[in-house]
Amino acid sequence: MVDSSGSERGGWLGRGRGKVILCGEHAVVYGHPALAAAVTLGTEVRLRAETGPTRVLEARADPRLEAALSVLLPAEGLGVEIDSTLPVGRGMGSSAALCVALARAELARQGRRPSPGEVADLALAGDRAFHGNPSGVDTTVSAMGGVLRFQRGAEPRALPGPRGWRLVVLDSGVAGHTGALVAQVAAARPGVDPHLARLGALSDLAAANLDDLGVIGEIFNEAHARLRAVGVSTPALDHLADFARTHGAVGAKLSGAGGGGVVIAAVADSGDLLRAASEAGLTAFACDIAAPEPP
Ligand code: PMV
Repeated sequence: MVDSSGSERGGWLGRGRGKVILCGEHAVVYGHPALAAAVTLGTEVRLRAETGPTRVLEARADPRLEAALSVLLPAEGLGVEIDSTLPVGRGMGSSAALCVALARAELARQGRRPSPGEVADLALAGDRAFHGNPSGVDTTVSAMGGVLRFQRGAEPRALPGPRGWRLVVLDSGVAGHTGALVAQVAAARPGVDPHLARLGALSDLAAANLDDLGVIGEIFNEAHARLRAVGVSTPALDHLADFARTHGAVGAKLSGAGGGGVVIAAVADSGDLLRAASEAGLTAFACDIAAPEPP
């Protein structure tokens, strides 16, 4: 989203979507495909012309954020306002959404109308400040919207949004640390490689069966079991996945790097699961997949 006025008085706006990984997290780091969906939650950034060094206008003591700003914005002359509806550190792509929003706002400031692909490339440079060596799935799906098959070294493929089911997100309330989890999986190789390969194959199976809730549910359940075998689940995430399955979800899996974060559940109707979660004191919400961004 770009401030149509483009004026200095209103500042320059950019928006980035959050995301969930439907299948293939961690596997995607090693060249296997992943399936990811942008969600309607996200982050908005407004840049304002200011004197002095570029800075975030409200106090935020995150050195990684400072590093991302230094990659994406000029060193001098901008104030940055950030407004986000995404939970932070839950595997829903908050850092990628922020970097996409910053990239869009900065490109708008330069008077450019970039394609989603250009936004994704610039945002990935910023997201490296957060996660070391991200695969790019988060920034790509955040910039492009919709549902994407993503594989390193291949063109991302947009898929039509699923019909006949929806997602419920259950939040463990615990932050996961993507960089540490990715390093943990690297240390567990080559023993975990068969699980990673299978997770990649499940991504393509899910891509081919996106409208079939029964198949998607089975894929979610197997993907969760594989991620647990890889070592990135936690007892809390296992509990949330079991809870979802026993309260109306056809399938459930952790989504994102793990070690905390969220579980996503595939449901025909979100009512039963949301009611049960609320009665059990769990944080859960229905989550809509965002439309693709215009080219
Ligand atoms: O940022 P998260 O927690 O959604 O994790 C991203 C997915 C990983 O595959 C674990 C890492 C990556 O760079 O693809």
